[in-house]
Amino acid sequence: MPENNAWWVEQTERCVAATYNRYPIALVKGEGCRVWDADGKEYIDCAAGIAVCSLGHAYPPLVEALSNQASRLLHVSNLYHIPEQSKLACLLVEHSFADRVFFCNSGAEANEGAIKLVRRYHLEKGNPERFQIITMEQSFHGRTWATIAATAQEKVKKGFEPLPGGFLHVPFGDVEALKRAMGPQTAAVMIEPIQGEGGVVLPPESYLKEVEDLCRREGVLLVLDEVQTGMGRTGALFAYQHEGIVPHVLTLAKGLGGGVPIGAVLFSEEVACGLPAGSHASTFGGNYLACAAGMVVVETLLSPGFLEGVNSKGQLLIKLLKKVAENIGLISEVRGRGLMVGVEFQEDLSPQVVAALMDEGVLTVPAGSRVVRFLPPLVISEDELQEAVKRFEKAVKRLG
Ligand SMILES: Cc1ncc(COP(=O)(O)O)c(C=O)c1O
Repeated sequence: MPENNAWWVEQTERCVAATYNRYPIALVKGEGCRVWDADGKEYIDCAAGIAVCSLGHAYPPLVEALSNQASRLLHVSNLYHIPEQSKLACLLVEHSFADRVFFCNSGAEANEGAIKLVRRYHLEKGNPERFQIITMEQSFHGRTWATIAATAQEKVKKGFEPLPGGFLHVPFGDVEALKRAMGPQTAAVMIEPIQGEGGVVLPPESYLKEVEDLCRREGVLLVLDEVQTGMGRTGALFAYQHEGIVPHVLTLAKGLGGGVPIGAVLFSEEVACGLPAGSHASTFGGNYLACAAGMVVVETLLSPGFLEGVNSKGQLLIKLLKKVAENIGLISEVRGRGLMVGVEFQEDLSPQVVAALMDEGVLTVPAGSRVVRFLPPLVISEDELQEAVKRFEKAVKRLG
C-alpha cells in the first residue's frame, strides 16, 4: 500500500481511539512554517499545532539541543536534581512574577496542579472553608476530570457528571458578576487573559486589573491560565504583562516546549505553602528532553527584537484580515493580540472555512462554530502571512 493520506486515514480509523474529528490528511514533514502531507501537498502552517510550535518546524537550534540531550540523558525521575529543569525554572522565574515552578506535561495537568495548590494554600493558612474556584463562561482549562469541571462549556462536561464540586462560572468581562459570586468560600479566580478555545475573546479594557484588585482585597488567589496565551503568543512573554497585573499562580504548556510536551505551574513564594513536599508529583514532569526544548524556546523568545517582531507581525495579520473583512460581507469581526488572531463569521461557517483554506494550502484552527483562529509559528515571515491571507480571501470567496 502507498503510505498516502488515504492509507493513514484508514490506519487511524482502524486502531486509534475515535475521540478526535480529524481532517483527512496526515502530515509527515515540516520545515519552518511549512508542513507537507503524505500526498506531498505543501501547507503554510497557521495553526502551529494549536499554538504549540512557536519556533516552527525542524528549527535547527531546537533540533540540535534535542539530539544533544537525547544522546546524553533523557530521563532519571524527580528523585534526583535535574540540571536542565533547574536552568529552565530559574530562567522562567527571572523573567516573570514567579518565585517557583512545578513542571508537568500538559495544560490540563498544569491546571490540575494549580487547582490543588489553591485548595491546599487556604487549608495551610487556616481557611479550609475557602475551597471554591470561580472560572469564566466559555473558558477552556483542559479535559481531565477537574479541568472539565473548571471549564465552563457544557459540551466538554457532557456525559461525565457528577463532576468534582467547588467550581462556579460567571460571565467573562463582568466584574460586577464576579463580585456577586465571591464570598467566604471563594478560594481563587481562574481565568484566561484572552479566551482561546472560547473564540479569541479579549477582555474589556482594565477588566483584568479590576479582577486582580478584587482578588487581593478579598484574600482570593488569582490564577491565570496562560496555556495558550503564554510564551510570546500575544507579543509579550506572558499575556499578563500587557495588563499591568501580577497573578499568584500562572499555568503554561503548549508553546513552552516548541512541540515537546511540557507544562508548568508558576507561583509566588507567598502561596508556595500550597504545594509542600510530598503534595504533588509527575513522573515525566520537567525531564531533560522537555526542559532542553524549553530552554531553546525561552532563550529565543528573549532574544533582542523577537517579541517586537511578534507584535508587528500580529498587527500586519490583523490589518490584512480586516481588509479581507471589508471586501467580503461574511465576516463580523477580526480581533486578537500578537499572533493569536480570530476571525468571527456572521454564521456558523468556521468548519467550512478551515476546510476550504486547507484546500488552498493553509492550516488554521476553528474555535467554536463561528471563529477561525490564526496561530502561526512566532517565526513566520511577513511574506508568508501575506500569502496565507491571500489564500484565506480566495477560500472564503469560494464559500460566499
Ligand atoms: C487555555 C487553555 N488551558 C488549558 C488547555 C489544555 O491544555 P492541554 O490540551 O495541553 O491539556 C488548553 C488547550 O487548548 C487551553 O487553551
